[in-house]
Amino acid sequence: MGPFNLSSILRPELQEMIPYDAPRHPEAIRLDANENPFPFPGDILEKIKAQVHEYFFTRYPDPRSHELVAMLADYTGVSPAGIMVGNGSDEVILTLLLTFASGGRVIITPPTFSMYKVHSLIAGAVPVEVPRHNDFILDISRINQAAAHPDTRLIFICSPNNPTGNAAPVEDIKCILEETTALTVVDEAYIEFGGESCIPLLAEHPNLVILRTFSKAFGIAGLRVGYLLSNPAVVQQLLRVKQPYNLNVFSQLAARMVLYYRAEFLAVIKKIIQGRQILSAGLCNIPGVEVFPSAANFIFFRTAVPASILQQDLLKEGVSIRDVSGPGLERGLRVTVGQKEENKTFLTKLKLVLTRREGQTGQK
Ligand SMILES: Cc1ncc(COP(=O)(O)O)c(C=O)c1O
Repeated sequence: MGPFNLSSILRPELQEMIPYDAPRHPEAIRLDANENPFPFPGDILEKIKAQVHEYFFTRYPDPRSHELVAMLADYTGVSPAGIMVGNGSDEVILTLLLTFASGGRVIITPPTFSMYKVHSLIAGAVPVEVPRHNDFILDISRINQAAAHPDTRLIFICSPNNPTGNAAPVEDIKCILEETTALTVVDEAYIEFGGESCIPLLAEHPNLVILRTFSKAFGIAGLRVGYLLSNPAVVQQLLRVKQPYNLNVFSQLAARMVLYYRAEFLAVIKKIIQGRQILSAGLCNIPGVEVFPSAANFIFFRTAVPASILQQDLLKEGVSIRDVSGPGLERGLRVTVGQKEENKTFLTKLKLVLTRREGQTGQK
């Protein structure tokens, strides 16, 4: 018997994978994860607390989250049989891939949300990349060409797209849906901030899946609640794979309360959209900053300075934003819209660190 060799039994497609980690800078102004920066509106938190009674945590949760699903049906207009909730939309993405894509091909459209590729590899599917055009618009004809491969199982389209912020026109999604029999997943994680929802297309397109989350507009990223809208046949298959008790009792309760009081969140969302306009204008006013339009709660921008350096400079000044640079996103950074004062501080510090860097380059 040879020595214990763990990597000899690790699946080859996982050998190169870097375990996920996220920046943790609790002391900084956190504009790096596209969260809702505002506290819960009104007394919703108190109302949630008031419902946590003595025996609340001793029982397993409802595996199908019936009450939450019923409220989501009311919110989205989709029938309860076409809705499935998950432990964040991250879990729903993995469940989709495990159910339909293992051994097949998955089309993704970089630059986009990284987890489509990561979860494809975890599920034993082959990610096929169809890059967006230079302005981050989807390359519909190349997507349709790639999707024509008989092994294509899923297509992921993020709209508004993380990290670039642009939304895909519904007409473009229609062009994909009409050409392919693969399941077409439109991730609408940021839809409350802008862009046009594909929900009206669900009735005519049985191969459409829409992903949503409570982590962004509805401010419960820490409680991990996401959901999927599709036709009941798709949900029936996914339920074979979904973890039985994927959404804990507390998260189900909080998500229901947030939906019940959604009018109050809509006011917060409005504030974030106004903040985005001010932040975008502020960025445009800084010389050397290239700013991209956004339909989400974050803004993608570039400067002449390498993104990792600028991100570190800002962190030293107490502001955390995300370095998203990479292929197609050279020198790219993503800043989440924060509260008014946070946005102001970010702009001031960005000006400061850019001026400092320019000074250093000028001296050389
Ligand atoms: C496009 C997109 N989809 C899904 C997610 C994951 O959201 P959740 O917190 O629901 O897992 C994110 C989170 O950043 C995202 O940007």
